[in-house]
Amino acid sequence: MYGMEPVYLPSEDSYLLSKCVERLVKGIVLDMGTGSGIQAVTAAMQPEVSHVLAVDINPLAIEAAKWRARDAGVIDKMEFVVSDLFDDVEGVFDWIVFNPPYLPSEGGLQDRTWDGGQGGADVIVRFLDDAMTHLRPGGSILLIVSSETGIELEKYGYKWEVEEEAPLFFETLYCLKLSSS
Ligand SMILES: C[S@@+](CC[C@H](N)C(=O)[O-])C[C@H]1O[C@@H](n2cnc3c(N)ncnc32)[C@H](O)[C@@H]1O
Repeated sequence: MYGMEPVYLPSEDSYLLSKCVERLVKGIVLDMGTGSGIQAVTAAMQPEVSHVLAVDINPLAIEAAKWRARDAGVIDKMEFVVSDLFDDVEGVFDWIVFNPPYLPSEGGLQDRTWDGGQGGADVIVRFLDDAMTHLRPGGSILLIVSSETGIELEKYGYKWEVEEEAPLFFETLYCLKLSSS
């Protein structure tokens, strides 16, 4: 069950991903689970990025992302959609970036900013099932996972490499680059 949902404030995982976004993305970009809009706006600020779609299931996050985009002067390059993952997303992208809810549930009220279901990977698995059909040929995904996330990426038909990692107090965060194998 979900109540009034807060907008995720940029944290270590956000900064790990934005470092990779700054370095790698080009062309047409999708930022899934945009939250405050940090990844979408970082992408839109790159000269080689032509267009960014920012998506979140939380309408408040979409409002926050629009504010950030206006503030950064890049809103003309961007579009915004409230959607449960790819349900209301059309088109194909050169890059898809996602800092998902990746931690195992602790029971009780779920918080969609971090709660990835029982093993921590429910949202990631649903995302990976559909992401391939929204990638242009040669396109790639940047995905944050934690050492606490229970997932075997090979099962989903992607090859992957670690772009960045950050050891934290009780887990290690990874920014992975995935492409079709
Ligand atoms: C860890 S936060 C990341 C926010 C931001 N991208 C960042 O890097 O700081 C995860 C985001 O995913 C969104 N989210 C969770 N489940 C989703 C779903 N099924 N579809 C779309 N967005 C979802 C949450 O609302 C939240 O904004």
